[in-house]
Amino acid sequence: MSKLTIEQLPLAGKRVFVRADLNAPLGGGTVADDTRLRAVIPTLRLALDRGAAVVLASHLGRPKGGPDPKLSLEPVAERLGELLARPVPLAPDCVGEATRAQAQAVKAGELLLLENLRFHPEEEKNDDGFARQLAELADCYVNDAFAAAHRAHASIEAITHHLQPAAAGLLMQQELSALGRILEAPERPLVAVLGGAKVSDKVTLVEHLVGKVDALVIGGGMAFTFLRALGHAVGRSLVEPDRIETARSALEQARRRGVQLALPVDAVVADGLDSSSGRAVGIRQIPDDQMGLDIGPRTIEQFTAVLAKATDGRLREAALRRGHGGHRARGGGGGGLQRHRRWRYDRRRQRRRGQRQDRLHLDRRRRLPRIPRGTNAPRRGRSHGGRVMRTPLVIGNWKMFGTLAEARPLASGVRDGLKRFKGVDVVMCPPFTALAAVGEIVQGTAIGLGAQNCHWEASGAHTGEIAPPMLVELGCRVVLIGHSERRREMGETDELVNKKIVGALAHGLVPVLCVGETAEERRQGLTFTTVEGQLRASLAGLDTAAVARLVVAYEPVWAIGTGVNATPQQAAEVHGYVRGLVSELASKEVAQGLRVLYGGSVKADNVDALLAEGEIDGALVGGASLNAQGFVSIVKKAARGAATRGE
Ligand code: 13P
Repeated sequence: MSKLTIEQLPLAGKRVFVRADLNAPLGGGTVADDTRLRAVIPTLRLALDRGAAVVLASHLGRPKGGPDPKLSLEPVAERLGELLARPVPLAPDCVGEATRAQAQAVKAGELLLLENLRFHPEEEKNDDGFARQLAELADCYVNDAFAAAHRAHASIEAITHHLQPAAAGLLMQQELSALGRILEAPERPLVAVLGGAKVSDKVTLVEHLVGKVDALVIGGGMAFTFLRALGHAVGRSLVEPDRIETARSALEQARRRGVQLALPVDAVVADGLDSSSGRAVGIRQIPDDQMGLDIGPRTIEQFTAVLAKATDGRLREAALRRGHGGHRARGGGGGGLQRHRRWRYDRRRQRRRGQRQDRLHLDRRRRLPRIPRGTNAPRRGRSHGGRVMRTPLVIGNWKMFGTLAEARPLASGVRDGLKRFKGVDVVMCPPFTALAAVGEIVQGTAIGLGAQNCHWEASGAHTGEIAPPMLVELGCRVVLIGHSERRREMGETDELVNKKIVGALAHGLVPVLCVGETAEERRQGLTFTTVEGQLRASLAGLDTAAVARLVVAYEPVWAIGTGVNATPQQAAEVHGYVRGLVSELASKEVAQGLRVLYGGSVKADNVDALLAEGEIDGALVGGASLNAQGFVSIVKKAARGAATRGE
């Protein structure tokens, strides 16, 4: 990396402005953690040893628009003096006549610390006049504030227009070359850990990293904006509403690129930043009146597992420390460290509590309505002897298989094989090009016709797209929306899926909303988080009546086309969760009538076991629907199962 460094500057006899990050956590009027101070010592020593007069500047915390004695750099000056073993006088301000006079008086080999830069709002506004005043204090500029270097603030950006040469300090140099090494020729797998309060500070970084890393671990306050983007209610936790969309697009980008994204699955919550104690709850259980202030024990375990993949042990350890204290940046001045210490809990107690949370979580799922099915082809959601019945639905998704020459015999074979069946709804979804032909073949039978995708608009300049009314014209009743193959290959986002659902419903089509987690998401325990995020975002803005017309298909990505289906229990657990969420988003009645299908390596020999689960209302069949006999056999088994269970 060819950057001018402090080592290349002619320092002797010069006044050098060093911008450092001395934003250390304070406690009881002293520096509670001097890591950031120690980090800048080599740069200061080098400048002083080479005969420079050092004017040192930093911000501390987030003063509100003016001087705040609680955020004075006085304790920092004192500790720095101890570390350098020489006095570090503190100027009364960072600009103004008195400060300028004091800066002019600093001799070679001496140092002056300016008062908190953020006592002037102009600093954060990157104000040019303010930067000019800072520039007047020295002959050259050194930036050693790596942690603040991404900010366009006056002492970081604007000052360089007035004070040259500008060079990188030793810490900056070291961090840049480590980053360069990691990003240019990394050892893989490469895992990045991000924390801090704000997404807005790191948007570009996140976007850049998604293209480089194998996994992204997101902790700190910013995680809550991501969790909101996934549709979680996060109580009073720190969220940047205007960045939810940014977070959503980063999540989508990560999903598309196959980057593993680790977000907290539990959090330590409390009433506020000053609470003296907190408790760990699952990420979906953050009470409305509390805020998440740290990651919980299950998250620590999961982040550890992700980080264990990274090869550099030191990085792993450092990253974990930072990740665990992720709320640190929330206090602005790193005051979270004390809070963190107060919260340092007995891991065993935490774990027990965590397990109890898990159990509660599961119990909640178990309490969701288990709805037995009946015979006599009860329509979905119909009450039968006080119980809600849902007609099983079996859909064949042919994907991009079936030229007309192949589609015709396949559709005829299914039609002929299903002359006598009842108690199951059956739909075939051939490719667009075969819809008309298959429609003719099944006309007059109980077999329905469905499409694999549609555009959200009724017509328009959308080359290559198919509009909902076109599908209706061909006899389609159903349309698959948000299949994971489309999400992955075509970059379909939840937002797009939502638009398509609205478009399909507007023309009387039944949207089959596909949701499901990747193998990695399941491994990390993010199954429910992922499915919930997809569901919430896809159903956004739909009223109860609209949700009542949907079908949901849970298709774990890892089970699609792999021959490895989810166990009936695994599937039922997610189906129950989906129903619980729909109950929350629409109504209990809608949830009870909702058909939730399972998809992913469904075959004639596993369909019985899957449909035996009360929560699984049918199947979305891929590969096995391309064989007429196999598909017929799946439908017949579903019909027999429904009949048996209804007795
Ligand atoms: P398979 O049945 O081939 O696994 O495909 C499932 C699927 O994606 C249906 O939509």
